[in-house]
Amino acid sequence: MTPAVARTRAELADLLSGRRAAGERVALVPTMGALHAGHASLMTVARDAVAAAGPAGGPAGGPLVVSIFVNPLQFGPGEDLDRYPRTFDADLEVCAHAGVDVVFAPSVDEVYPGGPPQVTVHPGPLGEVLEGRTRPGHFAGVLTVVAKLFGLVRPDVGVFGQKDYQQLVLIRRMAADLCLGVEVVGAETRREDDGLALSSRNVYLDPAQRRDAVALNRALHAAREAGALGVPAALDAARAVLDAAGGVDLDYLELALPDLSPLPADVAAGTEARLLVAARVGATRLIDNLPLTLGAVDDARPPGPDH
Ligand code: PAF
Repeated sequence: MTPAVARTRAELADLLSGRRAAGERVALVPTMGALHAGHASLMTVARDAVAAAGPAGGPAGGPLVVSIFVNPLQFGPGEDLDRYPRTFDADLEVCAHAGVDVVFAPSVDEVYPGGPPQVTVHPGPLGEVLEGRTRPGHFAGVLTVVAKLFGLVRPDVGVFGQKDYQQLVLIRRMAADLCLGVEVVGAETRREDDGLALSSRNVYLDPAQRRDAVALNRALHAAREAGALGVPAALDAARAVLDAAGGVDLDYLELALPDLSPLPADVAAGTEARLLVAARVGATRLIDNLPLTLGAVDDARPPGPDH
């Protein structure tokens, strides 16, 4: 069934107030549109999250809301705000297929009446590293709009993709640090058959760039396989794949703990970590990441005669 479309805050409130009053839990998937199978899988995770009755025992099957809003606040000068794909009719079909109840598609004025907000959410030190280093202000823009969407939709559960891993960690942190009362769920990255992470920006890649782009995921897997040999081996294995690929201009390749705090100087065998990569392929900036388990060099050496 085609979802109801709310263009204003008032329409959104009208569509949700009765269901909230009946005790139903609300799930939200915030997006910037240009929806693909990756977004559809977030919607499935969100629908499942409210399919069962909530902890307070309200009715099962609460409403699933998808917001579609290209947020100017998170684009820096020279980024792709103007050329960001806008495909509302196709997006509505994806939402209909996924059983979305309400699509919230506000204008910029509806979200930011009177212009950019004076009070914004500061991401703290985690906003300065990785993506934040090349995209100053980006995460303040993301957190501010997500906080506003949480305020307008008042969801019980918000679902975000692990593909934007730093964004997911920061939103989780914001929800906890500011006591927003939203459960933040991270959904697994959906990939093409050759491993390329699904992204709305993949449409910018020409066929040759599309082939080069697969190197990001291959590099992450090479690192995961070498992970048992320790940190330098994992990073070297990934770098070797990226160097061998033509047309991949590496921005960063970094290992961190799952909450993105730095790895300790001595990594113990069995440490769970996250490897994150960003690179330009042509004019398109792509990111990807993978969890991996690190070993210590000595663990991975076969026992020698003196062991
Ligand atoms: O991941 C995105 O699409 C955006 O950053 C988000 C979370 C919808 C905020 O604009």
